[in-house]
Amino acid sequence: MTVVINMRDGVDGRGIKIAARFILEGKLVAFPTETVYGLGADALNARAVRRIFEAKGRPADNPLIVHIADFSDLGRLARDVPSEAGLLAERFWPGPLTMVLPRNENVPDVTTGGLDTVAVRMPAHPIALALIRASTPVAAPSANISGKPSPTLAEHVIDDFYGRIECIIDGGETRIGVESTVIDLSSERPTLLRPGGLPLEEIEKVIGGVEIHPAVRGKLVDVARSPGMKYKHYSPNAQVIVVEGKRENVRSKIAELVHGYRAEGLRVGVMATEEYDADEFFHLGSTEEEVARNLFRALRELDKRGVDVIIAEGIEERGLGFAVMNRLRKAAGYRIVWA
Ligand code: TXA
Ligand code: MG
Repeated sequence: MTVVINMRDGVDGRGIKIAARFILEGKLVAFPTETVYGLGADALNARAVRRIFEAKGRPADNPLIVHIADFSDLGRLARDVPSEAGLLAERFWPGPLTMVLPRNENVPDVTTGGLDTVAVRMPAHPIALALIRASTPVAAPSANISGKPSPTLAEHVIDDFYGRIECIIDGGETRIGVESTVIDLSSERPTLLRPGGLPLEEIEKVIGGVEIHPAVRGKLVDVARSPGMKYKHYSPNAQVIVVEGKRENVRSKIAELVHGYRAEGLRVGVMATEEYDADEFFHLGSTEEEVARNLFRALRELDKRGVDVIIAEGIEERGLGFAVMNRLRKAAGYRIVWA
């Protein structure tokens, strides 16, 4: 049975108590963060964490992020914390930044996928923070079946997990809509493993130049440091195609593709920042923040409306656009049409 707790109007102490008890009993609780919903379990309870992998169908070598509510919890999880981590935490926590650090022995192997590092983040969401404070550090991947778009609404979590986990906290739509930025501080040079809700430019203002792991750009080399990068991601059932290039050319290229696929008898959906004529259309908004917030919802919704092909308009890669384009290209399996 799944208990759905409504906190759309804010943190509810009684609900938090119920959810925290589930966590402490080794059960699974989905909860909102400012990025996407997480599927949480007691990070230090190996059996509980194993259930996350089972529920998601997640490969065992893809490690989880451990969520904390107070900086002092970091010492229980990581060791040899470099000075950059302190600077970044001070500036950006709570917030959409995950840091990979040398792990403390306490953290079970299942949580870290057997790596000698642990990923840690302090989420900027009152419900998430209250849940962690009332229980323990919480390991949580995004609360979607492995390979599906991440959930930005409790309905998405219900679609994927209702009846299969103990508890879902409904906190309404998540504010940022793409997952946290993941940066590896365990190696010689700070390395970006996943662009996300905190723009890379912001990080570089604090610690200077950051290397970008080649897998971020889709190159399948040396994935050992972030095993998650090698798996299929964000894929709806429909085939996604991203159109990138000069703004003035993108519009006619999308129209041409819609026409071509429809002529083949396919149902075509378009997700874009301006209106298009297609079988289904999802307006992503006009700012990069709006596009990030709507991205996963658009993929899930167009899928529900039964399209065969989703044509997605690319946006510029700066700021949150880096995360958006990383997710879109993955969702498309790197099927990119240049306009
Ligand atoms: O915003 C987020 O980060 C959300 C919310 C729930 O906090 N969580 C999330 O978790 O996106 P997940 O599991 O979907 O993505 C975690 C990413 C994966 O790409 C994983 O491979 C990487 O972080 N990761 C976790 N631990 C790592 C480690 N020790 N070394 C390298 N990469 C790690
Ligand atoms: Mg995920």
